[in-house]
Amino acid sequence: MTTSLRLSLLLAVGAFMAIAPAASQPPLQVIQRGVTPNGFRSSVKGWNSFGINANPHTTPSFSFSQTGVTSQCDVLATNTALRDAGYIYCSLDSGWSDGSNGDEYGRITYNSSIFDIPSLADHLHDEGLELGVYVVPGAFIADEAKTVHGTNVTIGSVCSGDSGLSRCNFDYSQRATQEWHDSVVNQFASWGVDLIKLDYVTPGSPDNSASLPSDSSGAVIAYHRAIAQSGRSMRLDISWKLDRSQEYFDIWESNADSMRTDQDINNSQQSTFVSWGTIQRAIENYRQYITTVMQYNTTTTIFPDMDNLFVGNPAAISGITDSERQTVMTHWLGAGSNLMVGSDLTNLDDFGLNLLTSSATVAIGEGTDRLPMQPRNPGTGNNSSQQLQAWIAGPDTSGAAIVVISNYGPDQGEGGFGTSLSGAQTVNVSWADLGISGTYSVHDAWANKDLGSHNSSFSLQLDEGQSVMYQLRR
Ligand SMILES: *[C@@H]1O[C@H](CO)[C@@H](O)[C@H](O)[C@H]1NC(C)=O
Ligand SMILES: *[C@@H]1O[C@H](CO)[C@@H](O)[C@H](O)[C@H]1NC(C)=O
Ligand SMILES: *[C@@H]1O[C@H](CO)[C@@H](O)[C@H](O)[C@H]1NC(C)=O
Ligand SMILES: *[C@@H]1O[C@H](CO)[C@@H](O)[C@H](O)[C@H]1NC(C)=O
Ligand SMILES: *[C@@H]1O[C@H](CO)[C@@H](O)[C@H](O)[C@H]1NC(C)=O
Ligand SMILES: *[C@@H]1O[C@H](CO)[C@@H](O)[C@H](O)[C@H]1NC(C)=O
Ligand SMILES: *[C@@H]1O[C@H](CO)[C@@H](O)[C@H](O)[C@H]1NC(C)=O
Ligand SMILES: *[C@@H]1O[C@H](CO)[C@@H](O)[C@H](O)[C@H]1NC(C)=O
Repeated sequence: MTTSLRLSLLLAVGAFMAIAPAASQPPLQVIQRGVTPNGFRSSVKGWNSFGINANPHTTPSFSFSQTGVTSQCDVLATNTALRDAGYIYCSLDSGWSDGSNGDEYGRITYNSSIFDIPSLADHLHDEGLELGVYVVPGAFIADEAKTVHGTNVTIGSVCSGDSGLSRCNFDYSQRATQEWHDSVVNQFASWGVDLIKLDYVTPGSPDNSASLPSDSSGAVIAYHRAIAQSGRSMRLDISWKLDRSQEYFDIWESNADSMRTDQDINNSQQSTFVSWGTIQRAIENYRQYITTVMQYNTTTTIFPDMDNLFVGNPAAISGITDSERQTVMTHWLGAGSNLMVGSDLTNLDDFGLNLLTSSATVAIGEGTDRLPMQPRNPGTGNNSSQQLQAWIAGPDTSGAAIVVISNYGPDQGEGGFGTSLSGAQTVNVSWADLGISGTYSVHDAWANKDLGSHNSSFSLQLDEGQSVMYQLRR
């Protein structure tokens, strides 16, 4: 054997040994997000009324009315930290509109005993804020004899049946159906609406004791077209727990700006907003969502909506510990989810305000709006559900990435991982697990601390419910 052959064999063995541990981990496919169908590049930030409506004991002074909503949303304008961090949407959930019929053309209108929407929109716009309203598919059954605005067609001739929500089900192939949607959205535009939340869309939405039609995806297309013809910029947020098959995901992604990944997050009338088991479920739903849709295309054009963000109030009111609140913010931020706070804005604590508005929050959010995180299991780099989990967003072209490492604590029933490791756990995450290589400078976002250079792995102790969020740079 010649010297040079022996040398090249040695080099080959050396190279093999160096890369062998990495070879079994799947390569990282970076997920990117492009501009949404209605032209948005960032996820929506603001406040939504659902949380307090579902858990009124958390906020005894609140009434769902112009006064009550204004007292919450004014905080978005007067709290400079919230305003500067971009929390500008004031989104009304169900209950703002007249619940049994529309106006003389069957257009959705407000319950004038509790709201004056044009004046609410003016008030919010004067403060630099934006207004969101809530709708469900269909026109009112009680309006079937009315004529669609600008036509001679009755609503009943294109809308029939009963969805269980006082609404008939449209025939989306009819021109007058689109004209009804146009008339509704044009009226919203004239009032100054900036966001429409379309709930109970199927397939996906749980029946929740209604009798929903099996496919109301036509409503998503019709609202998108209606927004486009209205001449006003508006976001379309669709809900809840929508079907993730490629056929329907393609419809959601080409018409809406954000889509719900889980069922409702709330504590159903308790004196706290949320429970840890529900958060485990919400995180598991994001994991399923992102690992499914990245198989269709690693570039997406829709934001996930993980539902209301309950991190603003003290632990005794939020219903989860400070560590858990930090874990919630970490995951909503990592996903590039809608950041619609459901907390009582008049009772924020310093910890919650920092989670919502720190400079790291803003910087990470701008990154994950473009490059959302995906799971990479410690030890394998796979993407299954794990109690001890790692996630990565990016790296971008400059090499910047976000790494999240969590201990979700024992599975409380819907976490998907099914294990019950109790107490603090050591979590080891290698570069191969994350799908990266080379040297990074690492910053701990929540501790606001530089951790120096790292080139191979992280090993850390995490308590139940605890997460870290690291910013990696070349
Ligand atoms: C309007 O709101 C009031 C107060 O919540 C409620 O009692 C009434 O039923 C609502 N009206 C309609 C038509 O939804
Ligand atoms: C509605 O019907 C009337 C009477 O036939 C007709 O004059 C009018 O042009 C029609 N309007 C529309 C929008 O079709
Ligand atoms: C809370 O969420 C569940 C689904 O997780 C839903 O069925 C229930 O109706 C919600 N409760 C309220 C009060 O909205
Ligand atoms: C993936 O999505 C991007 C952005 O929407 C699009 O340009 C591209 O054609 C898609 N690729 C496939 C294979 O669908
Ligand atoms: C990781 O994924 C690979 C490929 O899907 C599979 O063969 C392997 O069994 C998985 N490992 C674990 C620990 O789940
Ligand atoms: C990721 O998840 C998807 C869907 O669950 C699965 O098909 C795929 O094999 C997984 N990839 C890896 C690398 O584990
Ligand atoms: C994690 O890493 C530490 C330090 O590198 C090591 O001592 C420990 O055995 C590892 N634990 C596991 C579970 O791999
Ligand atoms: C990785 O980091 C260790 C500890 O800082 C250092 O000793 C080592 O030289 C580094 N390796 C490379 C390839 O940079």
